[in-house]
Amino acid sequence: MTAYRNALLLVALLASSSLAPLAAEPLPIPNPAPAHPELRTVLEEFGGYEGLKLLMDDFMVILLDDPRLGPVFELSDQQRVKDMLAEQFCVILGGDCTYTGMDMVEAHAGLEVRHADFNALVENLQLAMDRRGISTRAQNKLLAKLAPMHREVINR
Ligand code: HEM
Repeated sequence: MTAYRNALLLVALLASSSLAPLAAEPLPIPNPAPAHPELRTVLEEFGGYEGLKLLMDDFMVILLDDPRLGPVFELSDQQRVKDMLAEQFCVILGGDCTYTGMDMVEAHAGLEVRHADFNALVENLQLAMDRRGISTRAQNKLLAKLAPMHREVINR
């Protein structure tokens, strides 16, 4: 009986301890647009927010033309995706912008995104940046901030 009571006490203690809710709570979703004020000069190289909007026009054309990704972007609200990406990149590059879109888990939840899709998207973004004459150094500064987002975007 004492052993039984001790076991009950242990269960009650564990349930009330700080470990129990920690185990049950989902991990917080990372900020989809973390600001990097130190990258403001990189934003200038992109031509600021207006330059990013032009970049997104080119990027979307390239995406739609890519047999790997075109079909999925055909089905999306392309203007919204371009607007949200321009806002997101502007904030990341330290601009005076606000990102009004979804977090990266939510934005891609309805899609089955694989590693290969992520690499294809980055490849297309590089192509779009090359065509706009963005230096490799500036491209890499942006890509380094996007790379960790693969954890939220890839869901298959
Ligand atoms: C670092 C990588 C990526 C970033 C930063 C990113 C960012 C975004 C953003 C900001 C949106 C708009 C969210 C909103 O509407 O509020 C979005 C939507 C979308 N993304 Fe991504 N994305 C990434 C990778 C990918 C990949 C690899 C795919 C490949 C399938 C993809 C496909 C889409 C599609 C199809 C939508 C529109 C979804 C819809 O119509 O509801 N994204 N993404």
